[in-house]
Amino acid sequence: MITGAGGQLGHALAEAFPDARALERADWDVTYPPPPGLAADLVLHAAAWTDVDGAEDDPQEAAAVNVGGVQHAAELGAPLVVWSTDYVFDGAKRGPYVESDAPAPLGVYGRTKLHGEAAAGERAWIVRSSWLFGSTSKNFVRTMLRLGAEHDEVAVVDDQRGAPTYVGHLAEATRQLLHLPFGLYHVAASGDCSWAEFAEAIFDEAGLDTRVRRITTAEFAARAPRPANSVLRSEKGAPELPHWREGLRECLARL
Ligand SMILES: NC(=O)c1ccc[n+]([C@@H]2O[C@H](COP(=O)([O-])OP(=O)(O)OC[C@H]3O[C@@H](n4cnc5c(N)ncnc54)[C@H](OP(=O)(O)O)[C@@H]3O)[C@@H](O)[C@H]2O)c1
Repeated sequence: MITGAGGQLGHALAEAFPDARALERADWDVTYPPPPGLAADLVLHAAAWTDVDGAEDDPQEAAAVNVGGVQHAAELGAPLVVWSTDYVFDGAKRGPYVESDAPAPLGVYGRTKLHGEAAAGERAWIVRSSWLFGSTSKNFVRTMLRLGAEHDEVAVVDDQRGAPTYVGHLAEATRQLLHLPFGLYHVAASGDCSWAEFAEAIFDEAGLDTRVRRITTAEFAARAPRPANSVLRSEKGAPELPHWREGLRECLARL
């Protein structure tokens, strides 16, 4: 069973696991216990509150989805895959974050995701990934393509680094992950870049001559704080993903 099938990762999971039952919010609002009769051999729990800035204004609802939702998914009693985030870290480390690094979330979203990890129980794979993008739903690639078509220049943050991860690659890697013991894994694209470098690559690959004006996190002034360093690597033999630029090319080919 897949939850959150209307989201970008859920959509990719439904493609990678074509026999799975794909549930959207209308089928099961995960802030409620599972509907009677719902059963699964394996739960791929991609439903989540992902509005990082909005979580600052509505921490209770964010927790209801990101913590309560995981608890409810675990109540189904089947092995569970839950996805977590680079935002469980404060970004102060030099070099990539590995599974044994201590989390220290900066904002509400990261805190709820960290509590969600704890709610997954013993029979779960917890997959921390970063900067997801795909050919569906709202994400940075689709936003940049829209802005790039409308403007000659776009201002993009250049002092946060991460590994933009294509949901198609992450969904495929989930198949491999199921052969590993339950536990916490970092699974993100190879390579890293800043948001500004990512935007430049998007315009380059899409054949747009939009300029990127590099700005700081402080200039962008988002509601929620974000880690300066979001780069994840695995010290536990988690599946390795292709380079983020390869993911970008696959995504653009789909678009
Ligand atoms: N996006 C990122 O950059 C990123 C980075 C690292 C980790 N992650 C994690 O990866 C996972 C997948 O993220 P994503 O980018 O695919 O998110 P997404 O595109 O926002 O999809 C999340 C899905 O969850 C659904 N949902 C929200 N509240 C729900 C509820 N109460 N009951 C049932 N469904 C509900 C949403 O439905 P509606 O469309 O109806 O709201 C949406 O379809 C999440 O666990 C996220 O925290 C994301």
